[in-house]
Amino acid sequence: MTARTIRLAVIGGDGIGPEVVAEAIKVIRAAAINVAVETISYDLGSQRWHRTGEILPDSVLAEIAGQDAILFGAVGDPSVPSALLERGLVLRLRFELDQYVNLRPVRLYPGVASPSSGLRPEAVDILVVREGTEGPYVEAGGVLRKGTPQEVAIQQSMNTAFGVSRVARYALQRAASRPGKKLTLVHKANVLAYAGDLWCRTVAAEAAAFTDVTADYCHMDAASIYLVTQPERFDVIVTDNLFGDILTALGAVVAGGIGLAASASINPERTAPSLFEPVHGSAPDLAGQHKADPTAAILSAAMLCEHIGLAGAAARIEQAVAEDLVERQGAWAARSTPQIGDDIAERVAG
Ligand code: IPM
Ligand code: MN
Repeated sequence: MTARTIRLAVIGGDGIGPEVVAEAIKVIRAAAINVAVETISYDLGSQRWHRTGEILPDSVLAEIAGQDAILFGAVGDPSVPSALLERGLVLRLRFELDQYVNLRPVRLYPGVASPSSGLRPEAVDILVVREGTEGPYVEAGGVLRKGTPQEVAIQQSMNTAFGVSRVARYALQRAASRPGKKLTLVHKANVLAYAGDLWCRTVAAEAAAFTDVTADYCHMDAASIYLVTQPERFDVIVTDNLFGDILTALGAVVAGGIGLAASASINPERTAPSLFEPVHGSAPDLAGQHKADPTAAILSAAMLCEHIGLAGAAARIEQAVAEDLVERQGAWAARSTPQIGDDIAERVAG
């Protein structure tokens, strides 16, 4: 008996994107018992752009906005000018669908080696709540006298009380539901005085309503030291868009590599679908060889299931990945992309 139908917009994108997304879908289907999973694939990325000049047509955006969730692979290719697909597709989706929470767990699974020696898995269980729609990622600023020795480039960071308070509230809610009950704001308030001050005051004001959560502050440079040397200092981190981008790339490496790092761009009010994607990029040099590790995409699929109310499926996927990671002992390259997907799907189906 099928109790429910979920409709997923699938954007495989470029390079290894379609390969890892295929495995994520395979695993969702195995995990979502009594759920009909309908997928609608959207041809977006470098090939579409080369063929038609289109990046994300309005009509496609409107259709995607009507689905339950978005599964995203990766975009980017050396043949496409820098920032074109990043801004026109990835960021446009985040901005237009108001995915203001960029959620990135940093977890060291048992059996996974961290380049930061001596770290125990228990020490690395962090949830980074990165702001997704403001900061230096808004296109504010401009260029003067381009291409001349007098060129001026201004790239402004936009921080609003509204934007900071809503992401702080989300982070506080997540912190309140975790055993650690701690929220650390990461910023650079000692130098970026205007934005830093807004973030500090706003997070403190929101934190006042969460009496069981300890609110803490750490400068961005110190946070990148502690993330490597003393990750147990952190439970939930809330931070600005660019700091969060950098910190989660570092976090991915600390937790065993970019091939394992999952992420979600969440619209908490559900006024539009949320998007789930591996942190890694399109890796064009690996494309088409079945060499990519689909684990990050599969863990992102677990986040997708959790978000759309399939908590059991999410837990089954995470458990299956955890078991697979113990068994592989770092030797993922021994299996092809579909083989890893098959093995995890098989464990999920039990
Ligand atoms: C990421 C990526 C994106 C970002 C780019 C592709 C826009 O680096 O998801 O981390 O900076 O957020
Ligand atoms: Mn990034």
